[in-house]
Parts: sequence; C-alpha cells; structure tokens
Amino acid sequence: MDLGIAGRKALLFGASRGLGKACAMTLAREGVDVTLVSRTRETVEQTCAEIATASGVRATPVVGDITTEAGRKAALAACPEPDILLNNADGPMPGDFRDWTRDDWIAALDAMMLGPIETIRLTVDGMMARRFGRIVNIVSRSVKIAQAELALSNSARSGLVGFVAGLSRQTVEHNVTINNLLPGIFDSDAQRRHINGMLEPGGKSFDDIWKARAASNPAKRYGRPDEFGAYCAFLCSEHAGFVTGQNILIDGGSYPGTY
Ligand SMILES: NC(=O)c1ccc[n+]([C@@H]2O[C@H](COP(=O)([O-])OP(=O)(O)OC[C@H]3O[C@@H](n4cnc5c(N)ncnc54)[C@H](OP(=O)(O)O)[C@@H]3O)[C@@H](O)[C@H]2O)c1
Repeated sequence: MDLGIAGRKALLFGASRGLGKACAMTLAREGVDVTLVSRTRETVEQTCAEIATASGVRATPVVGDITTEAGRKAALAACPEPDILLNNADGPMPGDFRDWTRDDWIAALDAMMLGPIETIRLTVDGMMARRFGRIVNIVSRSVKIAQAELALSNSARSGLVGFVAGLSRQTVEHNVTINNLLPGIFDSDAQRRHINGMLEPGGKSFDDIWKARAASNPAKRYGRPDEFGAYCAFLCSEHAGFVTGQNILIDGGSYPGTY
C-alpha cells in the first residue's frame, strides 16, 4: 500500500532507539524526511545515518530533550513545519508512590504529559492551516491496565490521553488527527530497564522474568519494534484521516477485555 506521504516532513521525539526509531525508519522508507530528537548526540547521529542509508531520504539529528523549552526549540528550528509529529520519551522507573517526591511527579508529568502537550501546541495550528497533520503519542498499555508499580506512568500518561481526547475532535475537520499508541511488551531498552527495576535480592533473575513475561503474553513473545513502526506509519498516512482520538493497543492481545 502506498501510504501517500512521500515528501512529507516528520518531527520525531525520542526516536534514536526502540519504538521511536522504528517509527522513524518506517516513515523514512515511505519517503518522509525525518528529524529525530533525543538527548544523546552519538546515538541520534548514528541512527540518522542508518536511516538515511536504508531509505535514501534526509534524516536530521537534533540533540534535545522534550521536557525542556530549549530541546523543543531546537527541534522546531530543525523542522519548523512538520506534517507529522511523534511524541515519545523515557517512561519512569517502577516504584512505590510513598517514596516519590513532588519533583518526581513533576518530572513524570514533563516527560509524559506536559512536554508532548507543548510540542502539540507548537505545531497543531500550522498543521490545521496547511490542512494536513498526523500526531502520534507513544503512551503505554498502563493507561488501560494500571500497574501498581507504575503509578507515575499510569497517572501522567492518563493526563495526556485525556487532553488528546478533547483536542483530537477539534482538529480532525482540518485533516489533523491525534492518536495514542499503547505498547504492551516490546523487545527494547525500556523493557530491559523495566525488568532491571523489578529485580530483588534473592528474587527471580533477569532472564527468568524476561521469559515469564513473554510466556504470559497470548502471542508468547515480545513485540518487535518494526511491528510498532508499521502501525505508526499507517496512522501517519493519508488514508488515516478518519481515525482520531483513539487509544490503540499493540500488545499481542494481552489486554483481557472484549472491547
Ligand atoms: N518497550 C516496551 O515494552 C514498552 C511498553 C510500554 C510502554 N513503553 C513506553 O514507550 C516509550 C518508548 O519505549 P522504548 O522501548 O522505545 O524506549 P527506549 O528503547 O529506551 O528508547 C527511548 C528513546 O527516547 C529517547 N528519549 C528518552 N527520553 C527523552 C527525552 N526526555 N527527550 C527526548 N528523547 C528522549 C531515547 O534517547 P536518549 O536517551 O538519548 O534521549 C531513545 O531514543 C517509553 O515511554 C516506554 O516507557 C514501552
């Protein structure tokens, strides 16, 4: 299927590794010029070189943090009029809410709610004026199945989802859609960090937890980032203009609800 977006411009936060990188790679292979933003220069430059070689399109690296005004400004300077925006950043470490300070909560809100809302604020009006925009937020299944140890994620990400529910109904008549992708378990660094955060002295090993999580998924495996990238690219396509305000699980069927 031709996604109809060759020549479009995409600004992708958190795209040097994992799910964000897979989204950038898939869009680039569809002929989209991509600007990748993340905090570590070496990784983002390497990933851009890899994407440019694989796709033949322009891939521009930006060193920036979605949680800071300077990071967002640098990103917009490199890609002032994006047609496609991907919001993504690190999730929080698991823990007990009794141990968290107000600063921990603010950091979570900055990464998973306020940073993305700010990038949307900076881009959505231009998209509406140009009559094309696709905004995708990488969220988490934790907004549908709250996990006790992920209270920072359950809460901050739900704030973004609530915001999108309202705004996405106002933008769609201008051919600007906003959707949230909710990953289940994917084979990526974030998953490894999450499992490392669950290790306890004398408890199960990393390998045991890794395998048990795969075995407990109906697909009996982790998702591959390229599967995630393909779904993201479809949502960014010209064919997806009637899909907005949705929270889409990509989780191998692990969400147990019928609806
Ligand atoms: N993988 C899973 O199984 C899974 C499941 C549920 C939810 N999620 C969530 O999905 C998101 C992506 O996961 P992933 O597995 O792809 O993670 P990942 O492999 O660790 O990649 C995260 C990417 O985001 C960048 N990044 C992190 N914080 C940033 C910030 N503040 N500003 C700009 N860039 C930032 C990282 O680069 P730098 O570190 O260099 O900035 C990297 O490119 C995370 O929020 C994660 O919690 C993942």
